Amino acid sequence: MRGLVVLVTLACLAGAQHQALIDYLERRLLAIEDRISLWHEQTTRYASELRELKQQMVSQLENLDKEKEVLRMNLDSVGTRVDRVEREMDYLETQNGAQPCVDVDDKLIEQQVTLVEEKQRAKYSRLSDCSDMISSIKAMKILKRAGAPRGTWTKDISRGSGKIYIFNGTDDNTIHEFASVQDFTRSQGFSLSKSLKLPSSWKGTGHVIYNNHVYYVSQDQEINVVKYDMKDGFMTDSAVFPERDQVPVYGLTPETVMDLAVDEEGLWAIYSTQQNERYISLAKMDTNSLDLEQMWDTNCPRENAEAAFVICGTLYVVYNTQQPGRSRVQCVFDVNDMVSNEEAPLVYFPKRYGAHSSLKYNPQEQLLYAWDDGYQILYKLAMKKKLEI
Ligand SMILES: *[C@@H]1O[C@H](CO)[C@@H](O)[C@H](O)[C@H]1NC(C)=O
Repeated sequence: MRGLVVLVTLACLAGAQHQALIDYLERRLLAIEDRISLWHEQTTRYASELRELKQQMVSQLENLDKEKEVLRMNLDSVGTRVDRVEREMDYLETQNGAQPCVDVDDKLIEQQVTLVEEKQRAKYSRLSDCSDMISSIKAMKILKRAGAPRGTWTKDISRGSGKIYIFNGTDDNTIHEFASVQDFTRSQGFSLSKSLKLPSSWKGTGHVIYNNHVYYVSQDQEINVVKYDMKDGFMTDSAVFPERDQVPVYGLTPETVMDLAVDEEGLWAIYSTQQNERYISLAKMDTNSLDLEQMWDTNCPRENAEAAFVICGTLYVVYNTQQPGRSRVQCVFDVNDMVSNEEAPLVYFPKRYGAHSSLKYNPQEQLLYAWDDGYQILYKLAMKKKLEI
């Protein structure tokens, strides 16, 4: 009996120890579970924080891209503005004529050459509907200083010719021919030129070269316009102007009693008459016969005038101004009555030396060949339509 009680007690003891172990293990497991769920929670939180950070980075990168683009656009517009300012400076230079240095712009000469080629392709299409007028002087180039204070220089106004002619001074029987503008600028004085002797002396600064012919003004008892064929070397025609008093046509160029001009429509004479003595008269001439086709008395005074030229049937007279180093188109006369003095543009010539003794317009190039106190200058003209004023 006693032995059984001991056995039961031992068994009970063993059962109690076992229970305690299980309880312990259970507690440990719960603690581990707790910690695992804590880690899990933390990991999820970190992951979502990382996502948020990534999103922030992406949107900031996008902003940076946008800012970069804005910056680039700003730079571009600054670039265009700098370009524009540069162009405006160029323009102002032509308006003010700041630098008194003699420089040769090869580009302008090249442009002339290409311009001539372009015009040649365009043939005479412009002649039929000529309605251009000056809007401004786009550029000027001083090509050279050669010869006397007064004189005339011009290109042969005919398709395909690039020849340049010099009438040095106001009284001679010889002219100088250069094969091109480049030859003229390269030449020491007139050394690269060919001399042409004309049948009589020319006087003043009124002469033109048109289709390989010299049209020059000679003067004895009366005023003569002589047409001379340079190709065959003979005088083709001559016309007498019935003027008793040989009054200078421009007050400031006393040697010139008659000025000739060529425009898109042909040959013009600019002169003065006894009936309209204080003002300039204009006549359209037949290029073949030298007949006067039509005549106009203009309202442009001779006093203080330096020179004049004709573009599309409009006479532009250039006057000396009170401002030193500037002359100005101050009177226009349009034979078609499309441009009045009020509508005429303010065209200033940035001359620096004396008065312009001649201004010869080349309709193929829209250039004026100017002689200013021995300087040979090119003025590039900007045009607009007469009707658009
Ligand atoms: C140009 O004309 C002036 C004055 O008439 C004269 O002194 C000069 O020698 C001439 N020049 C040339 C190169 O013929």
